[in-house]
Amino acid sequence: MDFPPLGTLRIASPADALRISIVATAAFRYSPLFDWERPDHAKYPEDTLESYHTQFLNAIQSDDHIVLVQEDAYLGNENHKTTAIIPDGTGGTTPKAGDGVIVAVISIKLDPNSPHKGKLKNNKGLHLTAPENPGRDLNQRRYDEWGTLSVAARKKNKAHKDSIISMIVVHPAYWRRGHGTRLATWARDLAIKDRVPQCVSAAPMSQCLFISLGYRRLDEIVARGDEDDPRGAKTLLLEFGCEYRGGLCKRRLLRWIIMVAKDSLMGLVGLTQRTLGRVQFYVFGNLWG
Ligand SMILES: CC(C)(COP(=O)(O)OP(=O)(O)OC[C@H]1O[C@@H](n2cnc3c(N)ncnc32)[C@H](O)[C@@H]1OP(=O)(O)O)[C@@H](O)C(=O)NCCC(=O)NCCS
Repeated sequence: MDFPPLGTLRIASPADALRISIVATAAFRYSPLFDWERPDHAKYPEDTLESYHTQFLNAIQSDDHIVLVQEDAYLGNENHKTTAIIPDGTGGTTPKAGDGVIVAVISIKLDPNSPHKGKLKNNKGLHLTAPENPGRDLNQRRYDEWGTLSVAARKKNKAHKDSIISMIVVHPAYWRRGHGTRLATWARDLAIKDRVPQCVSAAPMSQCLFISLGYRRLDEIVARGDEDDPRGAKTLLLEFGCEYRGGLCKRRLLRWIIMVAKDSLMGLVGLTQRTLGRVQFYVFGNLWG
């Protein structure tokens, strides 16, 4: 199977989901969507962690997703570098300073016709189930509405058959070390290899990164504010490889035109040969006859 080289990235396993939930909580805290969807994070931080744990565990174990991680040397004070709340003891045993730990992650939802489904997996026969989560940090109405707005924006812009970067996060203690660019570049290179367009709902912090990699603005996704939070939330729907859209249809059409042209040409050659044969027969028949 033809994938871009992984380099220092590795394929996530179900056992990584707990550590990833810390990275995601610490980083998503800086996306405007976080305040909008999780207004009670400070009260119920364990529910936020559990929610990302479930989302990543599902993606890691789903054939429709590729989840890649990047490790770096653990910084003992990492949780002082985020305004998110990570309760002590989250994630089991605390690593030693300098140990390799996951600091960055990307989840890519493959396009509906992708040949990569079920590939690049690291499950090793392991299947984990996330515990029930009461989701007390969430505003469920806003969360559901955002899902609906995102799907509608992709449909309106004919990007609903694209592959999707569904999540990309780097723990704030490890920002600006190139981890985000490395992950996004791998995703973009997969789109180039597959000749399939790829979209992302980009929060403000990632917009320059994606635009510098060649993603282009399709639309805005906007949740209008309400009484409790008049700010609402907004991201940009960006896309890479719009020229690949319809590529399959175009290739099929071209193949069909070539086939029809070839058949017509063969028919024409046959007809000419038959006509010449008849003319010969008529001319020589008259001469000798
Ligand atoms: C966006 C994000 C993934 C980038 O990760 P990263 O490892 O720091 O990325 P890189 O080191 O490769 O830097 C790439 C660009 O990210 C942006 N960036 C990174 N850290 C930033 C910061 N503290 N403030 C503003 N922009 C920042 C910059 O545009 C940077 O390019 P520059 O260094 O040329 O200015 C990371 O900042 C993050 O997780 N943010 C919070 C969650 C989020 O918004 N995720 C995106 C959802 S689509």
